[in-house]
Amino acid sequence: MSLIELSNIKVDFKQSNQVITAVQNVNLKVERGQIFGIVGYSGAGKSTLVRTINLLQRPTHGSVKINDIEMTSLSPVELRLKRQKIGMIFQHFNLLEEMTVKQNILHPLKRSKQTTNQKESKAKQLLELVGLTDQANAYPYQLSGGQKQRVAIARALVNDPDILISDESTSALDPKTTQQILELLNHLNLTLHLTILVITHEMQVIEALADQVAIMEHGQIIEQGSVQNVFNQPKQALTQEFITLSQGFSIQKPQYN
Ligand SMILES: Nc1ncnc2c1ncn2[C@@H]1O[C@H](COP(=O)(O)OP(=O)(O)OP(=O)(O)O)[C@@H](O)[C@H]1O
Ligand SMILES: [Mg+2]
Repeated sequence: MSLIELSNIKVDFKQSNQVITAVQNVNLKVERGQIFGIVGYSGAGKSTLVRTINLLQRPTHGSVKINDIEMTSLSPVELRLKRQKIGMIFQHFNLLEEMTVKQNILHPLKRSKQTTNQKESKAKQLLELVGLTDQANAYPYQLSGGQKQRVAIARALVNDPDILISDESTSALDPKTTQQILELLNHLNLTLHLTILVITHEMQVIEALADQVAIMEHGQIIEQGSVQNVFNQPKQALTQEFITLSQGFSIQKPQYN
């Protein structure tokens, strides 16, 4: 049984009198502990597809199973609990500017019944994990892009998720900072056994970090397989194009192994 199993996913958006099919015929399995990359140009349907995993986007058709549980059949209360176990990070960090680093990290717990002590200890542990202990009381405007993404990562981990979805989380960062964030994601994968979905348009990010990769075009997955096989023997012209574009960028494989 795979941790994530998407079957025959289709997503239509209805706009006034026309229908845009953003995702179609998608079948995808992610095993527990994997780092799974999704690559495609802007508009390919990557974000729409991954948003079906926690049903932020309900698919028009298809099945979304997490741990063999059909997400589309859950009650609102059950869905809310399952969603807590799926963290998300984004290109633009989405931090709350009027809150400190620590307050941002603890924000998802605002309605939880945890005690102040429990929350403080969780914040301390996460600040340490992402290397921001000294910035606990800083505000987002005082942080670099890389530090903001670390805050977002810590916030995404506050409910001890099984899955982390990274939607272009390094796209606004310079190469050195990208490298550091990829190191951190790799570390989380290894130490927390976190299953990670990495969406990107940069094939070099996939090469450095992922085990498996799927290439999307026009809402469909046109090729998928192990990173090694896809890089060695790309079947589709678009895959080859992404590989060619990524050459010359140097992102090192994270060194935690
Ligand atoms: N809420 C929406 N309403 C209507 N159309 C949408 C909506 N969200 C996405 N789309 C359309 O669906 C298609 C896929 O969009 P999506 O954001 O999933 O692509 P993407 O691969 O994540 O692109 P990017 O790399 O730019 O983030 C696009 O044509 C987009 O315009
Ligand atoms: Mg997107």
